[in-house]
Amino acid sequence: MSHKIVVTRSLPEDLLAPLHEQARLVVWPYEETPMPYRDLKQELQDADALFCNVTDTIDQELIESAPKLKVIATMAVGYNNIDIPVCQKHGIKVAHTPDVLTETTADLTFTLLLSSARRVTEGEALIKNNQWQTWAPFFHTGVDIYEQRLGIIGMGRIGEAVARRAQGFSMDICYYNRSRNETAEQELGAAYLSFQEVLSSSDFVCVQTPLTPETKYLLDRKALFTMKEGSVLINTSRGGVIDEQALYEALVDGPVGAAGLDVFEDEPISSDHPLLQLPQVTATPHIGSATVATRRKMAAMTVRHIQQVLAGGSPEYAVV
Ligand code: GLV
Ligand code: GLV
Repeated sequence: MSHKIVVTRSLPEDLLAPLHEQARLVVWPYEETPMPYRDLKQELQDADALFCNVTDTIDQELIESAPKLKVIATMAVGYNNIDIPVCQKHGIKVAHTPDVLTETTADLTFTLLLSSARRVTEGEALIKNNQWQTWAPFFHTGVDIYEQRLGIIGMGRIGEAVARRAQGFSMDICYYNRSRNETAEQELGAAYLSFQEVLSSSDFVCVQTPLTPETKYLLDRKALFTMKEGSVLINTSRGGVIDEQALYEALVDGPVGAAGLDVFEDEPISSDHPLLQLPQVTATPHIGSATVATRRKMAAMTVRHIQQVLAGGSPEYAVV
């Protein structure tokens, strides 16, 4: 009997073609609208596989109403939207897409770092609003990047890729991670410091840690207010790692000089959110891995993960 696969977002036909050959596909027909939870729950009742993404909430209720489900393959590296213990309990395999997006995501981290330091989007807005009057000795000055200290919170694959870029700017690299990373220390010259030391001594802090119960609000008010005066905070991981209310206060009344944010607690973030009213905040709409080449690789890998499990094997990049 042929398998049923639910795909929660429309994708280019050629990417899904390999699945069409061996299964019945139910594909949510829109590219820019998430599949509603209700519809997903309904379709999963007799499904064998799920192709999902960061916008789908895969909770206990959903998982337990899908008795035939064998695999959940997410087109993302982060899987904080999936209840992993419940999947494990029911023997459902979960797969994600690390590695293929590492360099692309590190590029965006660095884009935000450079842009925040030199106030690029703010400067562009000024020109486009006809507010550029003249060159002036201290007009639109920012902070240096070259030879400054970069602190990386979460030294995984993406953290290492950010550190490699920082080497090209002769930055002094330090990091905090749950466990030490020998590669980062030996090959990238990154110094292992305590969380507090990274925050208090770095000119730039890049957050590259996954969102887990342990990292939820890791950057809370106390942490943010120990950051170095005038420092720049960059987040391309998950919004929930930072307390946004506290970040607002740290930008207005505290030591944080600027922030570059690609991720938010609630996405899409509303344009009237206090953080977006601050000129020193540079924001992008969760596009860390968003290049055509990388998104194609992520989708192809997600397809392969489903094929691997439906053929009786294990996914190449398994979470559980
Ligand atoms: C995107 O946010 C991802 O986790 O890949
Ligand atoms: C995160 O999962 C990473 O690849 O750094």
